[in-house]
Amino acid sequence: MPAQSQPTTGPTTPGAPATPAAPGPEGGAAREADLLARARRHLLANYKPTPIVLAEGRGVEVRDVAGRRYLDFCAGVAVCALGHGHPGLAAALARQAGRLMQVSNYFYNEENIELAAELCAATGYDRAFFCNSGAEANEAMLKLARRHFFALGQPERYGILAFDRSFHGRTLGALAMTGNPAYQQGFGPPVAGIRHLPYGDLAAVEQALGPAVAAVIVEPVQGEGGVLPAPAGWLPGLRQLCDRAGALLLVDEVQTGMGRTGRMLGSDHQGVRGDAIALAKGLGGGFPIGAMLCREALGGALPPGTHGSTFGGNPLASHAARTVLRLLGEQGLVDAARERGAQLAAGLAKIAARHPTLCTGERGLGLLRALTLQPGRAARDLLEPCRKRGLLLTAAGAEALRLTPPLVVTAAEIDKALALLDAALGDVDGAA
Ligand SMILES: Cc1ncc(COP(=O)(O)O)c(C=O)c1O
Repeated sequence: MPAQSQPTTGPTTPGAPATPAAPGPEGGAAREADLLARARRHLLANYKPTPIVLAEGRGVEVRDVAGRRYLDFCAGVAVCALGHGHPGLAAALARQAGRLMQVSNYFYNEENIELAAELCAATGYDRAFFCNSGAEANEAMLKLARRHFFALGQPERYGILAFDRSFHGRTLGALAMTGNPAYQQGFGPPVAGIRHLPYGDLAAVEQALGPAVAAVIVEPVQGEGGVLPAPAGWLPGLRQLCDRAGALLLVDEVQTGMGRTGRMLGSDHQGVRGDAIALAKGLGGGFPIGAMLCREALGGALPPGTHGSTFGGNPLASHAARTVLRLLGEQGLVDAARERGAQLAAGLAKIAARHPTLCTGERGLGLLRALTLQPGRAARDLLEPCRKRGLLLTAAGAEALRLTPPLVVTAAEIDKALALLDAALGDVDGAA
């Protein structure tokens, strides 16, 4: 399915967007040009998006304003677990929007209380704090860890150990924990007390832990860093070292959580429970929501007045997350992520073998996967050839072409995406 202009007077294929919003291809091209010109004029230039303008989607397929259709294996960067335009999620949001959207944290709301209870039951944690993004969930974990030791009379215990190639978000606290100096450059002195160590190196962690270290923060799979799964024994090793040193283990499940890796949490693969976890991305299925969950012993570490969010825990976002959680269970989507992930992995391994000058192999967990590239090859250079073939992907790190389809992706759609990817790599091979 090469990216191609389609008449937009109705669904073009089963599963294609059902409610055309865009004008026909010619008008669509003009509309696209106008929108792109206005984007360049009015949007802050902090991103470098592909110059297409997405208009609507259904399931794993999206369509742009010029009428081109794509298989979306970006899915809002591992966000749209139920795909696009999910009728159940859309109806639930519409119902809740007509009922109650926002009340602030001056009052309880029933959706948020139900969500907290359901999330705790689904993950094994005890208490929940809600916010609006992954960075905010990590900020909350950072503040929780530091405030915990402050309350214990150890204000000097504020050190945080994080890892090279990690990604925890763009706010200043989350950024300071992010193990990529390029992202930190130019923003003044980073938040103090944060050190980065090599991911997977237990000896380095053991050496760095001490009475000044409050917590270790880790991703079960380093997503943005290049889809690097935790080596065997890494998370249990960290758990053991933290327990021995009296430090907290904070798990950033923003990308790996909510079934993405084929288990509810990425850390479930190694049977490890953190003291707190951060969730976002898939949690709202596309509706913005973040959460920090923690164990009971930390439930009082951020007393009233120490942390908060105007929108955090609002009824609309909470209802979205409840709907996603219910559908993950009813439709067996966590198991599906494992099965489809295995299919994707096998297909990617074959593609890597067919294009040895471009690829070295594949890696990942569940439906958080990547095709890895030869040294000197940049994943971002392959995004456009894939898009031209009708497949939307993202790059993770320099050398990983990342695939994060919705968890509702079918076996046939995986096969189709693999064929498109194979063809796109063939285009690049052929042009070399
Ligand atoms: C592991 C991880 N943590 C935190 C974040 C930041 O999330 P957000 O962009 O919602 O702030 C991301 C985003 O990619 C992530 O992958």
